[in-house]
Amino acid sequence: MDIIEQVSLKPYNTFGVASIAQYFTEIESRKDIDELITWHQQHDLRYLLVGGGSNLLFKNDYQGLVAHIRLKGKAVIATDSDANYVRAGAGENWHEFVRWTIDQGMAGLENLSLIPGTVGAAPIQNIGAYGIELVDRLHLVEAVDLETGKSREFDVAECQLGYRDSYFKSVGLGRYLITAVTFRLPHKPEWKVAYAGVKDELEGKALSSRLISDTIIAIRQSKLPDPVVIGNAGSFFKNPVMSESAWQVLKAKYVDLPGYPQDNQRVKTSAAWLIDQCGWKGKKQGSAGVYDKHALVLVNYGGATGADLWAVAESVIRSVEDKFALTLEPEPRVI
Ligand code: EPU
Repeated sequence: MDIIEQVSLKPYNTFGVASIAQYFTEIESRKDIDELITWHQQHDLRYLLVGGGSNLLFKNDYQGLVAHIRLKGKAVIATDSDANYVRAGAGENWHEFVRWTIDQGMAGLENLSLIPGTVGAAPIQNIGAYGIELVDRLHLVEAVDLETGKSREFDVAECQLGYRDSYFKSVGLGRYLITAVTFRLPHKPEWKVAYAGVKDELEGKALSSRLISDTIIAIRQSKLPDPVVIGNAGSFFKNPVMSESAWQVLKAKYVDLPGYPQDNQRVKTSAAWLIDQCGWKGKKQGSAGVYDKHALVLVNYGGATGADLWAVAESVIRSVEDKFALTLEPEPRVI
């Protein structure tokens, strides 16, 4: 494991923020993980594990060690009468992995096409889009406990996956380095195409995983900026979930308020709608702003610092609080 000093994090976060890491390393093998643990025991410095950097906002430079996960490999490791079990290294690019499963003739991940980031980051926030969440397809997470150095497997229940949430993001934050993820992909496709927008596009067409994936790619490209062109981290805020009664009170005042019923009499509303109502869509403060085609996306138009982006995020949070008395929570990790 080579450690480099004073490295720009610009290539390692999809916001394209040029914060500086005091120390930086690449994790490519089990040996590198063991060396990372030893390094951590010898240095009184924090460290941060980074995959695709698509779910991070660096507000400042990072004092400590940034470890970029590059554990690779993908393969069908088992097949039974119901499903294929497909394992991928944590450092594999998520979208390339999804397309690879489709190329192999497997269904199940098509709705999650074009989500930025890596395979290893996917369970951390239980990525989801267009009616499917990672939890629906997950079989097993392999990780190394960074306190003990021991390998450990997590079954689906142990991952405690919720809406953009998991054990790894809450109680287990920072303790485990995810090394690989195995998915269970049923032989009989369970295509989900009821989501508004997807359904209309596919009406009357012969379904296939490739067609659904292509359709979702086109929808995402029409609404969400490509991080290679405009720095962003996808949705910057989580959709607020509240009690049905609290939602009814708001709905009485704002008749167009969206509501998506969840379990336990709770209702999810749309953060994008709330932000849009506050007039933030397309607004800029210097090089940072809110994307003009989707109000949930914070964007770096070029040269914005993490502090600039965070200032916009804080202003958005304040506006939504003032108008709706709801506090938006960031979806990415703000460091
Ligand atoms: N809307 C607005 N203004 C906008 C955009 C949307 O009012 O500028 C309203 C509309 O009422 C629309 C509703 O918001 O019907 C929902 O919009 P959309 O379908 O785009 O979904 P979302 O709730 O904004 C979530 C995920 C996305 C995921 C989409 C599609 C979160 C935080 N975001 O967005 O995930 O792609 O659903 O399933 O749950 C991500 O996490 O980075 C991400 C992009």
